[in-house]
Amino acid sequence: MGFTEAIIRSYERQVDRARVEDLERRCEVGPAEHMFLFTDTMGDPICRIRNSPMYNMLVAELDNELVGVIQGSIKMVTVHKPQKEQAKVGYVLGLRVSPLHRRKGIGSSLVCELEKWFTTNDVDYSYMATDKHNEASVKLFVNKLGYNQFRTPAILVNAVHKNRSSHISSNVEISKLKVEEAECLYRKYMGSMEFFPHDIDQILRNKLSLGTWVAYPRGETWSTEGQVPKSWAMLSVWNSGELFKLRLGKAPLSCILYTKSSRLIERYFPCFKLVPSIPNFFEPFGFYFMYGVHHEGPLSGKLVRTLCHFVHNMAATETKDCKVIVTEVGDHDVLRHHIPHWKLLSCPEDLWCIKALKNQEKNSLYELTNTPPTTKALFVDPREV
Ligand SMILES: CC(C)(COP(=O)(O)OP(=O)(O)OC[C@H]1O[C@@H](n2cnc3c(N)ncnc32)[C@H](O)[C@@H]1OP(=O)(O)O)[C@@H](O)C(=O)NCCC(=O)NCCS
Repeated sequence: MGFTEAIIRSYERQVDRARVEDLERRCEVGPAEHMFLFTDTMGDPICRIRNSPMYNMLVAELDNELVGVIQGSIKMVTVHKPQKEQAKVGYVLGLRVSPLHRRKGIGSSLVCELEKWFTTNDVDYSYMATDKHNEASVKLFVNKLGYNQFRTPAILVNAVHKNRSSHISSNVEISKLKVEEAECLYRKYMGSMEFFPHDIDQILRNKLSLGTWVAYPRGETWSTEGQVPKSWAMLSVWNSGELFKLRLGKAPLSCILYTKSSRLIERYFPCFKLVPSIPNFFEPFGFYFMYGVHHEGPLSGKLVRTLCHFVHNMAATETKDCKVIVTEVGDHDVLRHHIPHWKLLSCPEDLWCIKALKNQEKNSLYELTNTPPTTKALFVDPREV
C-alpha cells in the first residue's frame, strides 16, 4: 500500500472522538525498553491544543478505519537568530499511527498536511518535541521531512507524596502575584527568552493556570512597582491533570519492586514512615506543570527549591489525583540542579526539531539552529506539554 491510499481530513468530533481515543490507547509513546506513558484525554481528544490561540487536528482514514491522527497549534514567540526577533511558529504534537498501518507513509502524510495548514496561516517555523530515543519519530522528522535537531531540554519529574509535606524554610517569604504583576515580570525578565509566547497573558489568565508565586529572603521588600530584592525566584503552576491523565505502561523491575516494597514498609512497619511512599503510577493520575521558572541573585537556587517544595505541598493537599510535578528546563540551564526531581522518571534529553516553512527563511533557520543554547535559553509553554 502506498502514500495516497489514506484520506487525510479534519477531525470531526461526532464521528471521530471514540475512534481517536481508541487509537491513542493502542499507541505507546517511547522506546520499548523503557517505561512509557499512556495519555487519557477523558473524552476530549483535542484537549491538548484547545488552549492555544489557533489549533487544528487531522485524522487519516483507510478503508473507513481511523488509522492516524495529528494535532498542531500556532502562536507568536521570540526567537534568536542570533538577534532577538519574533516569529510565527507551528507546533506539531500527538502524531499517532495505528501499529498495524505503520511504514506506509501515513505518518509523513499527516505531518505534510499539517505543514500545509501552517503555511496557509503564514507560519515561519514548524517544530516538534520527542524523546530522543524515539527512533521512528526522529527518523521521520529529521531524515524524511528535513527537520533540524534544535534543542535538548530536560524534562524533570518529581513524585508527590500525599502524606509527607516538604519543608519550607522560615527564612523565605512566598507570595502569590496578581495576573497583571506576573505578566509584567514575565515580559520584563523572560520576554527575550527563546520561544517566549507573546500571549503570556492568555496563559496566565487560563483557568488551568493555578497562579504565579515569588520567593525572596524574609525581611526584604518586594514591591509591585518593580523593585525586586537582590535574590528572588518565581514560577507558575499549570494543572495539566484537569485536561488529561497519565498512566505508566511498563516499568523496569527495579521500579515495580520499589513501589511494592515501599508500600509494604508503610503497611507493616509504621516506624519506617520516613521512607517516602512511591505513588502508584499504574493507575491514571494527574500532574502539575511548573512553567516560567525564573531566578536572580546569589540565593536564588535555594529560593527555587523552596518554591518547588511549596508547589509539592499544594499538589499533595489541594489536588486529589496529582501524583507528579513536571517541569522542562533548557539544555544547560542551572535550574536542573535546583529543581527536585526523580531521576527514574525524568528525561535528561527531550529533543526539539525545527524546520523553516518559508523558502526565504532557510538562511535564518541556519542561523537559528546554529545559535548555541545559552544557560537560560528556553521558555516551555504549558499548553504544549
Ligand atoms: C512515529 C510514527 C507516527 C510513524 O508513523 P508511520 O506512518 O509509520 O511513518 P511513515 O510510514 O510515514 O515513515 C516515514 C519514515 O519514518 C521513519 N520511520 C518510521 N517508523 C520507523 C521505525 N519504526 N524505525 C525506523 N524508522 C522509522 C522511516 O525513515 C520512514 O521512511 P521509510 O519507511 O521510507 O523508511 C508511528 O511509528 C507511531 O505512531 N509511533 C507511536 C507514537 C509516536 O511515537 N509518535 C511520535 C511522537 S512525536
